[in-house]
Amino acid sequence: MELRTPRPRWQLVAELINQNQCKVVAEIGVDYCHIGKYVYANCPSVEKYICVDLVRHTDREVPVFIKDPRTVYHQMYSSSAHVLVPDDSLDFLYIDANHEYPGVCEDIQLWVPKVKIGGIIAGHDFSVYHPGAVAAVSEYFDCFSIEQDSTIERPTYSWWLTKERERYDTRKSSSST
Ligand SMILES: C[S@@+](CC[C@H](N)C(=O)[O-])C[C@H]1O[C@@H](n2cnc3c(N)ncnc32)[C@H](O)[C@@H]1O
Repeated sequence: MELRTPRPRWQLVAELINQNQCKVVAEIGVDYCHIGKYVYANCPSVEKYICVDLVRHTDREVPVFIKDPRTVYHQMYSSSAHVLVPDDSLDFLYIDANHEYPGVCEDIQLWVPKVKIGGIIAGHDFSVYHPGAVAAVSEYFDCFSIEQDSTIERPTYSWWLTKERERYDTRKSSSST
């Protein structure tokens, strides 16, 4: 197992986007758009950045980020916004909205189909402080990488994998079918 040095989550995201030359990115739960602002400054391949959040902040350079022609901002529940994004259209997905087990399961179920085969599925807060996120991610995905986010005092990790097949069902639901 490779032990990675902690760094800001936006540096990991930018590296994954650049490695895969991702064009269409979606972040579910953007808050102050820290990741998006870094991505625009460091990832020339990105043509579209879809943001989903219940809140739209009006300070900390968020308005500048939102006005960028590449940004599409959906201020709504992630469970409502998913119908606005076609299946197999995303090169990169970052799930970081509701951190409870049902919320993370719902975002995985609704948003993973939006990612192309070969695209990156990722998210945040794989940590003992968010057991619901750990349970949901571990239940859906057999194999994924993690890296500690150095910007959060309580240890927390981003997780990611490459989408290799069309469906990712929970073991529970796949064993009952
Ligand atoms: C932890 S913050 C996101 C941080 C951001 N991804 C980053 O890395 O800086 C979580 C955000 O998700 C939003 N959120 C929580 N539940 C949501 C839901 N069901 N649908 C849409 N947004 C949601 C909150 O408003 C909050 O801004």
